[in-house]
Amino acid sequence: MIQRADELATIIRNASEIHIVTHIDADGITAGAIASVTLQRLEKKYSIECIKQLDKTCITKLLSENHELVWFTDIGSSISTQYPELKKIITDHHECPPDSDVSFHFNPHLFGRDGSYELSGAGATYLVSKAVNKNNKDLAGLAIIGAIGDLQDRRFCELRGINTQIVKDGKESGVLQTIKDIRYFGKETRSLAKLLQYASDPLIPGISGREDACVSFLQELQIELKYGDAWRTWVDLEKEEKRRIISAIIQILLSKGFGYQTATRILGKTYIFCKEKKGTELHEAKEFATLLNSTARYGQYEVGLQVCLGDRGKWLKEALNLLSGHRHNLVEGLQFAREEKIQKRTYLQFFHAGDGIRDTIIGIVTNMMLHTEDVDKELPLIGFALTENGDVKASARATQSLVDKGLDLAMALTRAAKEINGIGGGHNIAAGATIPKGKEEEFLQLLEREIQRQFDS
Ligand code: C5P
Ligand code: C5P
Ligand code: ZN
Repeated sequence: MIQRADELATIIRNASEIHIVTHIDADGITAGAIASVTLQRLEKKYSIECIKQLDKTCITKLLSENHELVWFTDIGSSISTQYPELKKIITDHHECPPDSDVSFHFNPHLFGRDGSYELSGAGATYLVSKAVNKNNKDLAGLAIIGAIGDLQDRRFCELRGINTQIVKDGKESGVLQTIKDIRYFGKETRSLAKLLQYASDPLIPGISGREDACVSFLQELQIELKYGDAWRTWVDLEKEEKRRIISAIIQILLSKGFGYQTATRILGKTYIFCKEKKGTELHEAKEFATLLNSTARYGQYEVGLQVCLGDRGKWLKEALNLLSGHRHNLVEGLQFAREEKIQKRTYLQFFHAGDGIRDTIIGIVTNMMLHTEDVDKELPLIGFALTENGDVKASARATQSLVDKGLDLAMALTRAAKEINGIGGGHNIAAGATIPKGKEEEFLQLLEREIQRQFDS
């Protein structure tokens, strides 16, 4: 991998004009930011764009623009062996076939590593950036935000694989610190009750999803919910108060018959950016990633990018505005999906949001849905939403245990989409596709066939 990173670094050094193409999620924005800083430091002429997916329209546009070099980050592996007329390098982590092992393609899957948890798109981009100049180690923090944004810590409750090296780099360059702490989202900025209300991994039976139950639970533990007028957050708590809450949750889980393994998932590594202010959206990786997801997924990638590049003024303010909209949309989206009802079939379950949920957040909502209390964890969940072009976006999510039994959603969605003139891809545990409207039923049948085959082989 080091050798491949060096090869890409040489191509970058030899180019004088480079166009970066990246993906619209947190991993994509941080990948794009790492590539941008790398090129700024080399004093190269560069430009950047953020896209939802790499379709024919994008490629046609790129070909017509005649760039000297295109740098695909967190996207691009799907076309690594196509369009030789497009001079390119790719730093990506999506599943790709072994025959895409070409000299300008950097992807952990080509080296027997799993891109769903060992390295993100931002991580792959970071490793090439470090090959360009080892002083770029200060960009490790951005690569960590990308990995956390892609939920790469989910499998082991901490980052593993090649990500471990990036964590080490971040610590050495003084930007990153890790602590063992509760894993729930919103430790820096959410009120305690909200932190527990939205807790999903592990779910707290009788408490997650119910605000009043969260408040009484905390009151019974004699935790003050407010300091004067301000709601207290997790980071405001004393060590002893944290311990009291964590043991009470573990006790609930064990008493309801959840095993030790599920109960201990409450604790894991938290990734903290020591140079940012405590109690803000920028201090902890999960919250930082969500802030970035609030930008590019709503067509405002410039906002997220500028925050990654260091702006703490007008762009950050704009990002925070977008964040409140994003949070609202997720709550509404979840509500909407619940009302739509999930339909179960033999090998999968699905819901169709129509135009009720934006295609750019249907993946996040599908993930949240799968991890709510009453949803079956034995079947992968597919969420459909209409796109602005009149196509249908499909997002698929599964559990690690289904993946361990042989499920590979990326493979299934890629194949099923291809048969009906769509495009798909992703990871074993999470994948997506865009298909023509009206083809949903056919797509589901093809998917079921693929999934059945995976479990049988
Ligand atoms: O496009 P990209 O690779 O950056 O996105 C990865 C996707 O996989 C994210 O939407 C993330 O939420 C999902 N994922 C997941 N569970 C995991 C790992 C990744 O849902 N354990
Ligand atoms: O869009 P969604 O979050 O559902 O995507 C899940 C994963 O599938 C992401 O890693 C995304 O990059 C990938 N994907 C893909 N090709 C598509 C749609 C999604 O590789 N057409
Ligand atoms: Zn990614």
